[in-house]
Amino acid sequence: MSKDRKPLTQLAQAGRKPEWTGMPGQPGAIVNPPVWRASTILYDDVAHLRSAARSSTHERLFYGRKGTPTAWSLADALTEMEPGAEGTMLFPSGVAAIACALLSVLKPGDQLLMVDSAYDPTRNFCEQMLKSYGIETIYYDPLADSVSIDHFINENTRAIFLESPGSLTFEVQDIPAITALAKAKGIVTLLDNTWATPFFFPALSHGVDITILACTKYIVGHSDVMLGSVIATPDHFPRLRQTAYLLGQMVSPDDAWLASRGLRTLGVRLNQHQESALQIARWLSDQPEVARVLHPALPSCPGHEKWARDFSGSSGLFSFVLNGGDEAARAALIDGLAHFGIGYSWGGFESLALPVDPARYRTATTWQAEGPLVRLQIGLEDPADLIADLDAGLARFRKARG
Ligand SMILES: Cc1ncc(COP(=O)(O)O)c(C=O)c1O
Repeated sequence: MSKDRKPLTQLAQAGRKPEWTGMPGQPGAIVNPPVWRASTILYDDVAHLRSAARSSTHERLFYGRKGTPTAWSLADALTEMEPGAEGTMLFPSGVAAIACALLSVLKPGDQLLMVDSAYDPTRNFCEQMLKSYGIETIYYDPLADSVSIDHFINENTRAIFLESPGSLTFEVQDIPAITALAKAKGIVTLLDNTWATPFFFPALSHGVDITILACTKYIVGHSDVMLGSVIATPDHFPRLRQTAYLLGQMVSPDDAWLASRGLRTLGVRLNQHQESALQIARWLSDQPEVARVLHPALPSCPGHEKWARDFSGSSGLFSFVLNGGDEAARAALIDGLAHFGIGYSWGGFESLALPVDPARYRTATTWQAEGPLVRLQIGLEDPADLIADLDAGLARFRKARG
């Protein structure tokens, strides 16, 4: 965030240029850029059409696929949240954003270093798409220091992908050390920053080159839109934009508008998610049915000291390991919850509980735990209700475990 405006002020003001919120020559302006829907853009004459085709299309009406002020406003606001950013490209989902970001930096023959705790569709993209293009992916331990990562680097290593904390097991990576190593070796770093968002972790200020958000989660915040973004430094943005254009990537103005609406309240929502999640995580830590709580702001989380050093806050997603029990005992806990939905995704206003099995997605490391894992997304409900619900759930777990 810029130095002269605090983050909450910036979230309220970013992306509201007068040319997007007012009519030229008329007094006044509306607060939010409206939904500008367009495929065709009309030109005055042939000369105008030809000159438009020769000029930059950045924040200029050209053809619907290049966007309208509704999407530009969201992209501009996200760029403002990341000091050091040149620009932001928007995508129809977080996975589309990850795929395009990787394609913008890799070519056949390259090697990619991928954190072993990465979101499994990110791994699938590497294994099922990049591999077929002759790009090799090597997985590394999320807790690896830069010396261990250096051992994997060879002359073909082009990029290092980080996800910190990992969205199932919450290991926090040493981002400044890894980005410093990468810079010294001319390697590009990409970070999936969906958990913290730039509000709690401005990634480019910590040396990351390209940062990805599944805006579907906290940016939208209301569980009703799929959207992704990639924010990049001046060195990487032109290639990113070109790749996104070549792949025909764009977002609907309605979705961009809903995401901009979500962004206005990102700060207050994240602060509340943080407070409620911490209260519940601390309570869970004291329960005998719980072996470990994996929440970056708690010392029990691997990499906690990196979180304390680098992040300004924690969001509402974390996991806990049950003390013994099997699949059926875990299901007994989750199935009877009254205030938690059971479903994928996270970052919305509502709480969710999910059974997760990280061992299935690991190749460079092994996941070992005292019992099954449950991931919680703590929403904006009263934490006392959520604790009472979990308390009853742990009693069901105890009974089913025997
Ligand atoms: C960490 C992380 N990154 C990326 C994504 C992908 O986002 P989307 O569902 O919008 O494709 C997800 C979705 O759950 C996620 O958890």
